[in-house]
Amino acid sequence: MNKVTVNASKKYDIVIGAGLLRDAGQVIKNFCRGGKVFTVSDDNVFPLYGEALRTSVRKSGLEHFEFVFKAGEASKNLSVYSRIVENMCAAGLTRGDVAVALGGGITGDITGFAAATYRRGIAFVQVPTSLLADVDSSVGGKTAVDLDNGKNQVGAFWQPSAVICDTDTLKTLPEEEYRNGCAEIIKYGMLGDGDLFYKVKNVPVRNDYSGIITRCVEMKRDIVERDEFESGDRMLLNLGHTFGHAVEKLSGFSIAHGKAVAIGMNIITTAAVKLGLAPKGTETVLREALLSYGLPLSTTYGSDEICRAAAGDKKTVGESITLVVPTDVGSCRLIRVPVEDLKNYALAGGLK
Ligand code: GLY
Repeated sequence: MNKVTVNASKKYDIVIGAGLLRDAGQVIKNFCRGGKVFTVSDDNVFPLYGEALRTSVRKSGLEHFEFVFKAGEASKNLSVYSRIVENMCAAGLTRGDVAVALGGGITGDITGFAAATYRRGIAFVQVPTSLLADVDSSVGGKTAVDLDNGKNQVGAFWQPSAVICDTDTLKTLPEEEYRNGCAEIIKYGMLGDGDLFYKVKNVPVRNDYSGIITRCVEMKRDIVERDEFESGDRMLLNLGHTFGHAVEKLSGFSIAHGKAVAIGMNIITTAAVKLGLAPKGTETVLREALLSYGLPLSTTYGSDEICRAAAGDKKTVGESITLVVPTDVGSCRLIRVPVEDLKNYALAGGLK
């Protein structure tokens, strides 16, 4: 088992390894003075791992409650959030009890937001079951739900008390979800670790889940410790997001986050090379890595609609936006640009 400790506004451990779900109850017990555990999961994940979690929690002498919602981004909204907190109330959860997110990023985000706000905040433990949640969303304390006009528009920074990444849960991960997670891992390599980038470019991620998840989580730990509330360096994690989120939004979220980030990374890296900000060939190795995981490179949306959608993103501050621009494989910089300059990057990035 690997362990990474995050020293943010809350100090917590992320444990990574096979078979960890079996002992999740013992970990959760450390934060549960009230004796009640409220698990939130979706109807894809709960039938696979709900029983194992429930058994582990009960074996640790804790009472277990569960709330299962319909899988999918469409559930990450205020009405499901409201049902979760109403159910927490009906279960008699106090401030000494614990919420558990069992699932992927959507489950982690909505459960974390419920935990952040229920009785002004209760402890929560992340038990990610997707690669994307393992390497990104379960760590760092971003919690949120969507509004009709965009993703993650209502949320809070609320760090988990622990993160338990049981790599055995990845055995049931659908191929598409595996690819989405790999896009995030390639992103980590591009933004700050060339060795990681070339490792996953040359050898499939699934050959070393524990090692690769641990490396990504260490990188995220370092960034979150420097800038927990995203006023600077944490924005580096948004590589590929400016154009990627626009693609996701324009597709009505039918293009998954990982794929959209892949497209976004290709656009911004192509632009960086064209504008002389990154050496020639940077875009070629990125494309090779993305293609080796069956990830898309391009979109049929045009530069005007992409820029309109990107300008509406919550990363816009006033009339400007911070772009994460690769300067090489394994390094990036933040460039603040007026919103009207986005189009230059989109065109240089190959959009029509
Ligand atoms: N997913 C990006 C972040 O946690 O900041």
